[in-house]
Amino acid sequence: MPEWRALAAHRDALGDVHLRDLFAQDPGRAERYGVQVGDLHLDYSKQLVTDETLRLLRDLASAADVAGLRDAMFRGERINITEDRAVLHTALRAPRDAVVEVDGENVVPEVHAVLDRMSAFAEAVRGGKWAGHTGLPIRAVVNIGIGGSDLGPAMAYEALRPYTRRDLDVRFVSNVDGADLHEALHGLDPATTLFVVASKTFTTIETLTNAHAAKRWLLESPGGDASAVAKHFVALSTNAAKVAEFGIDTSHMFEFWDWVGGRYSYDSAIGLSLMIAIGPDRFREMLDGFRLVDEHFRTAPPERNAPLLLGLLGVWYGGFFDAQAHAVLPYSHYLSRFTAYLQQLDMESNGKSTDREGRPVDWQTGPVVWGTPGTNGQHAYYQLLHQGTKLVPADLVGFARPVAGLGELAGQHDLLMANLFAQGQALAFGKTEEEVRAEGVPDAQVPHRVFPGNRPTTTLLAPELTPSVLGQLIALYEHKVFVQGAIWDIDSFDQWGVELGKVLAKRIEPALTEGSEVEGLDPSTTALVARYRTLRGR
Ligand code: F6P
Repeated sequence: MPEWRALAAHRDALGDVHLRDLFAQDPGRAERYGVQVGDLHLDYSKQLVTDETLRLLRDLASAADVAGLRDAMFRGERINITEDRAVLHTALRAPRDAVVEVDGENVVPEVHAVLDRMSAFAEAVRGGKWAGHTGLPIRAVVNIGIGGSDLGPAMAYEALRPYTRRDLDVRFVSNVDGADLHEALHGLDPATTLFVVASKTFTTIETLTNAHAAKRWLLESPGGDASAVAKHFVALSTNAAKVAEFGIDTSHMFEFWDWVGGRYSYDSAIGLSLMIAIGPDRFREMLDGFRLVDEHFRTAPPERNAPLLLGLLGVWYGGFFDAQAHAVLPYSHYLSRFTAYLQQLDMESNGKSTDREGRPVDWQTGPVVWGTPGTNGQHAYYQLLHQGTKLVPADLVGFARPVAGLGELAGQHDLLMANLFAQGQALAFGKTEEEVRAEGVPDAQVPHRVFPGNRPTTTLLAPELTPSVLGQLIALYEHKVFVQGAIWDIDSFDQWGVELGKVLAKRIEPALTEGSEVEGLDPSTTALVARYRTLRGR
């Protein structure tokens, strides 16, 4: 595309320009390079961009028709071309009176019907009206799911912990490693435990294995017979037949639809465990937050469109700086699972190397997304961010106030945020040799103590981590990922890359247990299987 070539020429012209120079030449960028969406303020002044860069990036977005694909998504067109599906997570937070059609049928009434059923169920559990098989109220909820059926609700449960009912124990099990379920069940009473089995397809081996194990645990408990399952298991799925086959009454199933991708699903029925924890009202506040950013993405002009901007910045570093990674560094303990959630959202969506027409791409697509909450990361891997040889653009996410009612015995919040601001400054501006020398550092140490800086960051600042703000943040990243997929011309909504491993695992398992021959196994894996069997005494 000529727009891509124009950006390449512009990148050459920028050369090794430093953020120090960009600020010296244009002090107004601190004010100008900010955008507000809902409660979120995005400061991108510490990005390696000029007005010209931003203009050229917007030209690229327009040449790639990001807006056209966005509108097609919101209209319910089948933009997930390899699976021939609509992509309508935005309908999950549409208001009751909205009309969003899939194949000529308005899906909004169904969305609200399920939300209403979820709300009634969540209230019944929270109010002790939904009792276990012995008549005791539910005290613990165990969500069994994996990937999009785990990461979203688990992340949001942590994020909104201050809003949760503390007398209800909510736990998440995902790994097929029996240790996960074992630990989750530790100390729980089967008579007061509700299992929420979350699986879009209801065929995922990890989830079904854990769900069967949980069922056995219930059945082996005093008075636990088949009728107990009805009181202790509910399902979240699109596949009623498989839910029934497992033994869960489909009247205890909360439905969603094939136009909701797994990694885009936690605001659907997949959020039931979260809703039980925070209550339906808070859940709806979260949906309002999502919706606010959806509307912004749909209507804000390109210059002020936050998801567009974030997406374009990622394209800029991947395409023209060969950046391989992107760090998301939340300065909030409650966002401990935020980056893990974004890993699936981003990497399962945009970790592709085939364009929408099936041709190999010859440009960078999705980055390696990683990060953990500050300030912990500062004492672990930030060394590489500051002085390593790799360029890792980062998002610093912080909040002006600690969550309301949180005890703060020693002014921790200001100190936390001082660290966020300090990291943004140090990454961008570094510390020059002259500055190091002026501190009287011994000559031999000077080169080691210079910080090159010029590491780009976006700072995302919101007043407080509320349910609505969480919804806003997630929608912001969902649409950022969308923008990048549109520009890279890939299908962000399939995930064929996870299939091969699943198929091979199914083939290898009998070799581990029964010692059967596995056709087509490579010599290295054959030797490992043999060693494993010996170690297990088989
Ligand atoms: O990892 C592949 C995947 O299909 C994800 O996209 C999905 O979120 C996860 O598995 C779980 O799938 P399901 O909800 O069908 O159990």
